Amino acid sequence: RKMMKKLAALALGTAVAASLSGCGSLTGGKRIIRISHAQSETHPEHLGLLAFKEYVEEKLGDKYEVQIFPNELLGSAQKAIELTQTGAIDFVVAGTANLETFADVYEIFSMPYLFDSEEVYKSVMQDTDYMEKVYESTDEAGFRVVTWYNAGTRNFYGKTPIKTPEDLKGKKIRVQQSPASVEMVKAFGAAAAPMGFGEVYTAIQQGVIDGAENNELALTNSKHGEVAKYYSYNKHQMVPDMLVANLKFLNSLSPEDYQIFKEAAALSTEVEMVEWDKSIEEAKKIAAEEMGVEFIDVDVEAFKEKVLPLHETMLQENDKIRDLYDHIQAANEQAKGGQ
Ligand code: GCU
Repeated sequence: RKMMKKLAALALGTAVAASLSGCGSLTGGKRIIRISHAQSETHPEHLGLLAFKEYVEEKLGDKYEVQIFPNELLGSAQKAIELTQTGAIDFVVAGTANLETFADVYEIFSMPYLFDSEEVYKSVMQDTDYMEKVYESTDEAGFRVVTWYNAGTRNFYGKTPIKTPEDLKGKKIRVQQSPASVEMVKAFGAAAAPMGFGEVYTAIQQGVIDGAENNELALTNSKHGEVAKYYSYNKHQMVPDMLVANLKFLNSLSPEDYQIFKEAAALSTEVEMVEWDKSIEEAKKIAAEEMGVEFIDVDVEAFKEKVLPLHETMLQENDKIRDLYDHIQAANEQAKGGQ
């Protein structure tokens, strides 16, 4: 895998050189579209992106070839976002947690216990009229989100069972490179170790950290279940992944081509969401039966209590999240009323 990363880095070097010379990446007259993501080739996001590729190439195959680079081959999230900002690559799939340091508004999703349920979460994310405004708000950062992918609910897991918030005391927990998630883990009483996704397996294995927090696919697709045997359903965050595009690239497209890329993006989300639901069920089964991971149900309210004061603190410190916060609270309320 190291070797492959080296080769990919070399290939990218050429791509970067080409784009720096101002002509994009053209091969055989076709513009090469590069997409980077952090997951394996069986992950729902990869399957969604394959649908994106197929759609674009079916409609505009004479002009574009879409190349997907999985497994952080082009670098971990932070690096790949920078490559997208500069236009060295065209798209990256990155969790909003990793976008925080580039665009303040995305901090909102790291707020613990923001959505009351996955249904509310999905309904907010699928409300494209509202979300488009959020997506466009990061134009000054040089990128724009074109669609979102479900990345489930994040929970703590580690080498020892976490049954109550007290079990987190003194533990060192990996978080994404997300200031808000660092604060959250501290509020839980643990120490936060921010690092890239690809480093987590070895860090757990070598005891550099006691655990991490993620959705169930981290156990199977990224094999963390081999080194962390306890997964607790404390449900602290629903952090979506975003398909992020270089803004100059989007702006360079004709309205017709832009439309096709948007349709391809929407299609990739549809595919991803269906695959997601299937893969979570499968992941739980594999983790429990083949990897020996124990899934633990905990008193979610006890965890919630610890970190709810963060809502006020975060709102006070970042006015870019206010609108989306109010919007989500309204959706939470509406769902309650509808029950
Ligand atoms: C999930 C998510 C990724 C994220 C990763 C992480 O896998 O889908 O976007 O990078 O968690 O914790 O780093």
